[in-house]
Amino acid sequence: EKGGWPSFMAKEVSEEPEAVANTVRGRVQDGAVVIPELDGLDELFRDIDRVIITACGTAFYAGMVGKYALEAWARVPVDVELAHEFRYRDPVIGARTLIVSISQSGETMDTLMAVKYAAEQGARTLSICNTQGATIPRESDAVVYTHAGPEVAVASTKAFVAQITALLLLGLHVGRVRETLPADASDDVTGLEALPEKIAQLLDEEQEHVEQLASWMADTRSVLFLGRNVGYPIAMEGALKLKEISYIHAEGFAAGELKHGPIALIEPGQPVFVIVPSPRHSALVHSKVVSNIQEIRARGARVIAVAEEGDAAVLPFADEVIRIPLAGPFLEPVLAVVPLHLFAMGLANAKGLDVDQPRNLAKSVTVE
Ligand code: M6R
Repeated sequence: EKGGWPSFMAKEVSEEPEAVANTVRGRVQDGAVVIPELDGLDELFRDIDRVIITACGTAFYAGMVGKYALEAWARVPVDVELAHEFRYRDPVIGARTLIVSISQSGETMDTLMAVKYAAEQGARTLSICNTQGATIPRESDAVVYTHAGPEVAVASTKAFVAQITALLLLGLHVGRVRETLPADASDDVTGLEALPEKIAQLLDEEQEHVEQLASWMADTRSVLFLGRNVGYPIAMEGALKLKEISYIHAEGFAAGELKHGPIALIEPGQPVFVIVPSPRHSALVHSKVVSNIQEIRARGARVIAVAEEGDAAVLPFADEVIRIPLAGPFLEPVLAVVPLHLFAMGLANAKGLDVDQPRNLAKSVTVE
């Protein structure tokens, strides 16, 4: 039931704070992340020499964020692969490989086939899933449920923030077991517990602004998204959401790739969303993104910066600034994506489209 909301998507975006809270609940003990469902797997986590994250669509972008966090916290090499690509080659996997699949529905055929294939090759499998008892978790050795609640709209929103949250929890859990967590990891645990409130604050402060922006841009034919590091998958997710529900051409890029090609697309008036990483985490990475903004601005781009509160460096070059609350480096993407979900929804609404049931798409893709 929509419960008074104009669409399931609107309801589900409004539930993003709750989705993250539900994913974290019961998984923090005495300031450390302990996922009870993973009890008994300590030896496996100590033994693995490689992780492959596999998923499709939005879940794949969550996986890309997960890679950064898992490598930093659990000090294990992580690859992220689209399930349909992974399945049809001859990947090097074995008993010390952990396959982490991510699926909201737990029924995506491409992802299911990848999990089955990996298990046949002797790999261990763990799934991150939102739907209790679905096929993928049943086929996996272990499961971490996101508990985001049912997601009805075709565009995945609250499930995405919950998937990133589950991956962060997994990284902190496995890092604790492997004794590889950095000294400041407890800040991230506290940060995860504080995230729901920050998403709620962000929705409160920016929803109207983003919706207004979307309605001004209803005639736009193309939107680009740039991000670096964990902002890169967020740029990809912003572009996917816009394609899916507003049928506008959109592309996400790693900001560092600009000069290797995409900058040729920039012409006067081209809207570009830029996910700006916090200068508190890395002044260098931040300054690189700010120079990307200058480069595209100089060529006439209309820059919409998604930047943390207080970041004044973007002000001289951005046409619009969407502010996100302060968070740790791997938690920041959970916040940065929220305005992109709002933007895609706002634009589809401004065009009078059905945001819940976009053309040609199904909620769960159960064919290969
Ligand atoms: O149910 P799953 O998470 O396995 O679905 C994977 C993709 O099909 C899904 O994320 C798709 O990209 C969404 N429509 C994105 O909004």
